[in-house]
Amino acid sequence: MEIKEQLLVAKSLDELERLRVKIFGKSGIIAEQTKELKHLDASEKAERGKIINQTKRELEEIYNKQLSVLNKKAMAQKLKSESIDRTIPGREIPSGTLHPITSMINEIRSAFSRLGFNIVEGPEIESVFRNFDALNVPPSHPSRNLSDTFYFHDNRLLRTHTTTVQIRCLEREKPPIVAISAGKVYRPDYDATHTPMFHQMDGIFLVKGATFANLKAILNEFIVSLFPDAKTRFRPHFFPFTEPSAELDMSCPSCSGMGCNVCKKSGWIEILGCGMISPEVLKHFGYTLSDIRGFAFGMGIERLVMIKYGIKDIRLLYENDLRLLKQFY
Ligand code: DAH
Repeated sequence: MEIKEQLLVAKSLDELERLRVKIFGKSGIIAEQTKELKHLDASEKAERGKIINQTKRELEEIYNKQLSVLNKKAMAQKLKSESIDRTIPGREIPSGTLHPITSMINEIRSAFSRLGFNIVEGPEIESVFRNFDALNVPPSHPSRNLSDTFYFHDNRLLRTHTTTVQIRCLEREKPPIVAISAGKVYRPDYDATHTPMFHQMDGIFLVKGATFANLKAILNEFIVSLFPDAKTRFRPHFFPFTEPSAELDMSCPSCSGMGCNVCKKSGWIEILGCGMISPEVLKHFGYTLSDIRGFAFGMGIERLVMIKYGIKDIRLLYENDLRLLKQFY
């Protein structure tokens, strides 16, 4: 069969490719013919050369046409065999969820903003002054030890509590100051109930005429907004930055106060620390108790999450296991 015809009847792209190599390739027909030219004399050479060129162009034209025909055919066949079945269910795109800590912070923020509190933020790297001195924590206090606080070399540290933000508020604003702040805090501890990074929230309510009764009412309201059936009780306690100070317990949500493993059979769970802001703290900002009174409170957020979801080991919260995270969505 003449080569032209072979091109015209080629049935597949593979066959066409073989012909392309045979005709136009390095040692193909055209190349062979061109090589032969050197044996001819000048006039023959010119004539033969012309013919070769013309044939080459002709063959190229046929080849290109055939290539586009076969390409179209192959594409049509591909589309036919790969036709889309629109009835197949879609592939699920896995989506993330809010971390239970984040959800709890959101819940706390919205509960307190309903009560009229501003939401404020403070940095995690803080001065020793704001973390301890301004809060009336004496130089000998054990919480200042190297084993309890992550220090930098320049009188700064990773804040050990969010109470530092109260100091930032006092530096920045004049009363009335009514604000809460939630965020990360750091202490060198690691076991089933402690991680070196954890979360706290702190609140300050510095308003002329504020009383301990206001503190009780606000914190009660807050606890009930998170745990509607909870009962609360206040126990005297000590914090250097509040006087008087108390701890708030709530009835154990696992056993409704009957006594179980979660509450160590007591029926109560310790939730937060609070008290009237100490005159020692106010003094630094030029206030005396006859000018203004206020209260403050602070608590750990992991603890609340663990109670709410019955999680026994805090470390589970930081393993990034999607199976755990999905349970709380
Ligand atoms: N900062 C305390 C802690 O880390 C918690 C706390 C107690 C915060 C009493 C307060 C407060 O604002 O008034 O344990």
